[in-house]
Amino acid sequence: MWRVGLPGTVAGTTDRSPPPPEAGLVARTDYPLYVVAASDGAEQSGCLAGFVTQCSIQPARFLVCLSLENHTFRVALEAGALSLHLLGSGQHDVASLFAELTGDTVDKFARCAWHAGATGAPVLDQCAAYLEGTVVDRVEVGDHVAFVVAPVAGAEGPAPGLFTWRDGSDLTPAHPVPSDDGPTRP
Ligand SMILES: Cc1cc2nc3c(=O)[nH]c(=O)nc-3n(C[C@H](O)[C@H](O)[C@H](O)COP(=O)(O)O)c2cc1C
Repeated sequence: MWRVGLPGTVAGTTDRSPPPPEAGLVARTDYPLYVVAASDGAEQSGCLAGFVTQCSIQPARFLVCLSLENHTFRVALEAGALSLHLLGSGQHDVASLFAELTGDTVDKFARCAWHAGATGAPVLDQCAAYLEGTVVDRVEVGDHVAFVVAPVAGAEGPAPGLFTWRDGSDLTPAHPVPSDDGPTRP
């Protein structure tokens, strides 16, 4: 689960060590989950992401943190743009598609309706709202890389409500949280 900081969050461990300092804060938060997508011109890739937030107002900027383990990360490195989608509260199936399968083995975009957006990034036809923008900076932030996105286009979608981490707490990521040995760097 993408709640790094909670005890027992690394798949396959039965860690009995004391919780880390961030455990209490992380346990009490909830936040929207996004489908983050990119195209390198040859293929589309996307994953479910919770580590997404607006980080500047003027100019408007969004921060999208992608795990070094993910197929989406590797495609995003070659893409000049990313799309971010909020999901509706009833879109558990879409969240599962993008969280529990990996582009390493499956073409997720053959299993959902989408179109190329203004930036060339894939835009899901069914979502609560989307934003696409150009990548203006990238920063290593640990086992994730933060992509800074400048908005280009966006709109509300047809799906009602908002899908949050609590709605997706049963999802098992195709790529586990990186281990203490560190992420696999490309
Ligand atoms: C609740 C939840 C939140 C997640 N948040 C992130 C995230 O912020 N960044 C990320 O890179 N992966 C995140 N993941 C993991 C990816 O969605 C998952 O490993 C996915 O299968 C990767 O697909 P890909 O290999 O096709 O990119 C999250 C998964 C779940 C279930």
